Amino acid sequence: MLDGCGRSIDYLRISVTDRCNLRCAYCMPEQGVKWVDHHEILSYEEILRLVELAASLGVRRVRLTGGEPLVRRGLSGLAAGIKAIPGIQWLGLTTNGVLLEKQLPALLEARLDGVNISLDALDRARYAAITRRDELPAALAGLEAALAAPGLTVKVNCVPTGDNTDQWVPLARLARTWRVDVRFIELMPIGLGAGLSGAAQGTVLAALEGAFGPAALCPPSPGGGPGRYVRFDGFTGRVGFISAMSHPFCAGCNRVRLTAGGFFKTCLQYGDGADLRALLRAGAGDDAIRSAMAAAIRAKPAAHHFGTGPTPSDEGRNMNQIGG
Ligand code: 5AD
Ligand code: SF4
Repeated sequence: MLDGCGRSIDYLRISVTDRCNLRCAYCMPEQGVKWVDHHEILSYEEILRLVELAASLGVRRVRLTGGEPLVRRGLSGLAAGIKAIPGIQWLGLTTNGVLLEKQLPALLEARLDGVNISLDALDRARYAAITRRDELPAALAGLEAALAAPGLTVKVNCVPTGDNTDQWVPLARLARTWRVDVRFIELMPIGLGAGLSGAAQGTVLAALEGAFGPAALCPPSPGGGPGRYVRFDGFTGRVGFISAMSHPFCAGCNRVRLTAGGFFKTCLQYGDGADLRALLRAGAGDDAIRSAMAAAIRAKPAAHHFGTGPTPSDEGRNMNQIGG
């Protein structure tokens, strides 16, 4: 369906858990995480019902995120259920890759279409410093398994900051050899990210051009997400930038989100949306839930206001409850 600004909303990102096996500094605190209670997290049955209703409103693509989605038991069953819903044409997963090698066969059987692997460093010590866990070998095993799966779209996501400056070139180099798009995602001032400073697209691109030569801009793919892509000479995959800060893409935003706690979020930066868990658990019928979703979509904010200071309606959740 169209939102109040005339944007077609056809993409739903679902955080299936706020739990994670890593502790990336910009996402989760090292200690004292305030977890969402287990009974407050949507069951798979509840998620499937909401995806069905979202599909009836025009959602065609779904992505599972977290926290780390693979720490929730039985995720491939949810994936299969989502793919079986009429209207859903594509299912992706965003993961840190640590548990991916083992779970990938079941996910492929569930007809997963794409996987995005978060990787902020290729150096083991640097990876451990950023994620506070020594899991680089497992994450790389996950990436390798994904690259070996025929037909699976594979992307690598890196948040460039002062902590991984010397990792940008090695990470981008993955796209030279492998059929993978490597994307640099500007740090957004949400949750713990608000206290840190990220590197802007221009800074990263300059570093990459210094190493690989001039970048050729790729034509935007129709219906593609907010990523803008370039190609370096001799590369198999592309290098992309998702630059909410320096190159805002709100005007083309096609997405809504479901938090682990069942809140239907219409913009990353705002707390606006609909409490679908409350409706589900109050026994609301399909029409009532669908109307609440539709009303929230119609009221989706036109744009974020990163960089202009806080407002009362700003999001209070950390990224691990939202799913990025
Ligand atoms: N800004 C940008 N990206 C973020 N992520 C987590 N927090 C932030 C933030 N504040 C990214 C992770 C992962 C994805 C799910 O979201 O690195 O790639
Ligand atoms: Fe876990 Fe992803 Fe947050 Fe890192 S960014 S702590 S991998 S949810």
